[in-house]
Amino acid sequence: MTGSGGDGRVGRLMAGQGDRPGDAGRGLLVVGAAEVATLAGGPRRGDAQGDLAIAPPGTAIACLHGRIISVAPAAEAEEALAAALEAGGRDPRAIDILDASSATVTPGLVDAHTHLVFAGSREDEVAMRARGATYLEILAAGGGILSTVRATRAASEQALLAHGRRWLAQMLRTGTTTVEAKSGYGLETATELRLLAAAGRLADEGPADVVPTFLGAHAVPSEVRAAHPGDPAAATEAYVAAVIAEQLPAVAAQGIARSCDVFCEAGVFTADQARRILLAARALGLGIRLHVDELAPSGGAELAAELGALSADHLGAPSPAGIAALAAAAGAGRPVVAVLLPTVPWFLGLDAREPARELIEAGIPVALATDFNPGTSPVTSLPLVMTAAVLTLRLDPAEALVATTVNAAAALGLADRGALVAGLRADLVAWDVPTHAQIPYWAGADLVRAVAARGRVVVAGGRIAGAGGPIPGGA
Ligand code: NIG
Ligand code: FE
Repeated sequence: MTGSGGDGRVGRLMAGQGDRPGDAGRGLLVVGAAEVATLAGGPRRGDAQGDLAIAPPGTAIACLHGRIISVAPAAEAEEALAAALEAGGRDPRAIDILDASSATVTPGLVDAHTHLVFAGSREDEVAMRARGATYLEILAAGGGILSTVRATRAASEQALLAHGRRWLAQMLRTGTTTVEAKSGYGLETATELRLLAAAGRLADEGPADVVPTFLGAHAVPSEVRAAHPGDPAAATEAYVAAVIAEQLPAVAAQGIARSCDVFCEAGVFTADQARRILLAARALGLGIRLHVDELAPSGGAELAAELGALSADHLGAPSPAGIAALAAAAGAGRPVVAVLLPTVPWFLGLDAREPARELIEAGIPVALATDFNPGTSPVTSLPLVMTAAVLTLRLDPAEALVATTVNAAAALGLADRGALVAGLRADLVAWDVPTHAQIPYWAGADLVRAVAARGRVVVAGGRIAGAGGPIPGGA
């Protein structure tokens, strides 16, 4: 075996002419791990929220053509890989080795809630909040989301893409291989479509997968407010009508968004308005997800359960009836994943905490996400979110890992990832720690030894490199 990945410890059994690690048609074998957390068995809830399905010592993972083909004792996995290569007419030794000695191997992390594509930054609001302004006051005064809308409408295609690439590369560097990306900084049809097109383009570029979501109902834009002076309720109603009649049909025709989201919150969109938008979205074939009860209960959790949404996100202040409704849906086999975003109250300087233990005890499946956005969470690192969840929401490290892998994939309606199981996407991370319990423990540290996306090693030795060379904005 000759080392070809420097301190990324990617070696190869046979270096074919012109082949590079992870080239199409080469196999990848991950060997020597101290711990392999497979997460096999589908999404978890209640007492099973922390079940990692740890594989027996000596387990290796074999990948070919972007899929996992075997999770088995090393000799068996290698044999399966050689046989599969041979069956495809390839040299059975065309295998790259990822040396995971003393490392923990997990599925690639899934970030089920981000606002990836936007322009600009809002560090000024941090200072405004420090002086006593609240998030919703800043928004009502035309700042907050609306300030990012102004910057985003003015940004070129290239600028939006470069910005998205930059932060997506950061996410990949910390182990995230799938990223949901919401629109919602256009608030009119053309810019919303532009944001979704940018997310779709980033998905095509890879190596991380990007899952676009339409969030036209993120705020009421300034021009609609100005058309209804002194009557914010009428402005909101007029904008809801435009989302349903104009934006949604255009988004569906564009065919890039997989789901529709609404910011259902007192002072933003009501549960009734969210219901109308989401039913129209469903009729057009889109999945349903919701920002709910972030700052105060507004019937959002109840609505998510009623509609059978894929996820109910934030849940900083759900009502008891909302928790009961989500618990009943899960108990009836129609689980809505609660996507908790613990860096948001931290970044907003709020004492409120999402009632994670209560949700888990009620049998509701819990996921964690960054909510990456310029206002409430300019955070790209899911390991850091896991740390926040362990420290502030009292999740244990195993529950936090379930919440960023298999349950996060379920929140996106994706059954093809989030676990190390034959047949699933070969997205995985080798962490430079001997047990998953240390991933949230070394708070803010760089623990990633290697990341593979679709069976290709895309981060190694602390650097991003694909077959096509370094990724702009990475490393
Ligand atoms: O999820 N809550 C609404 N939307 C985002 C924040 C967006 C922004 O402030 O730009 C969130 O926190
Ligand atoms: Fe959000």
